Amino acid sequence: MNIDNRFPATAMPDTDWWTALWPDPEGVLRRLGVDFGQSVLDLCCGDGHFTVPLCNIVGRSGRVMALDMDPNMLNHAKARARSAGLAPDAIDWIEADATKLTGRLPQVPEFILIANTYHGVPDKEALLREIYSTLMPGGQFAVINWHHRPREDTTVLDVARGPQTNMRMNPDQVAEDATRAGFRLHGVIELPPYHYGVVFDKAKAG
Ligand SMILES: C[S@@+](CC[C@H](N)C(=O)[O-])C[C@H]1O[C@@H](n2cnc3c(N)ncnc32)[C@H](O)[C@@H]1O
Repeated sequence: MNIDNRFPATAMPDTDWWTALWPDPEGVLRRLGVDFGQSVLDLCCGDGHFTVPLCNIVGRSGRVMALDMDPNMLNHAKARARSAGLAPDAIDWIEADATKLTGRLPQVPEFILIANTYHGVPDKEALLREIYSTLMPGGQFAVINWHHRPREDTTVLDVARGPQTNMRMNPDQVAEDATRAGFRLHGVIELPPYHYGVVFDKAKAG
């Protein structure tokens, strides 16, 4: 895997400020609509900040798949899962490029999450097409993104954080892209202080 192909401006943030910014990842995931028993794909999972809480929500009758192209990130995420007391096979770890999902997943996901990464995707149309064709009909797709605010205004632990201002997007831009790929807008939620979540449905038939 050539990790030089990573989407620009999507390096995993340091744990100290990421934990300060996202103190309750499980609560965020519940607000996005992740539910007990679902099979969920955490696309571009990084060090697993959202992956491990996904297991708490879906339980043993659900399934969590975590994909990242950077093996170091997957190792961090595996260590996090171990420290949380999860069984080694509780999560399917997938080292792959998010733009090439076909044939890489052990199960068809009912919910796909991409958190803090979409802003950097150069070919959003191609990625959304791939996500749409991978998702189970009747399933949901959610994007967590930084609000389109000047970077200097989005401080955490007194330092400006997040992608540069010109890479940030409004929720309606994300909705426009995803609608073009076939998704139907389900809803937009605020994730204070600096983020929003946009949730989409894939129709049951089609
Ligand atoms: C900013 S981190 C976000 C991690 C996690 N989603 C979160 O919000 O805590 C972005 C992650 O995307 C991964 N990534 C970037 N481009 C990728 C690609 N083309 N395919 C798979 N993973 C990619 C990076 O390796 C990094 O771990």
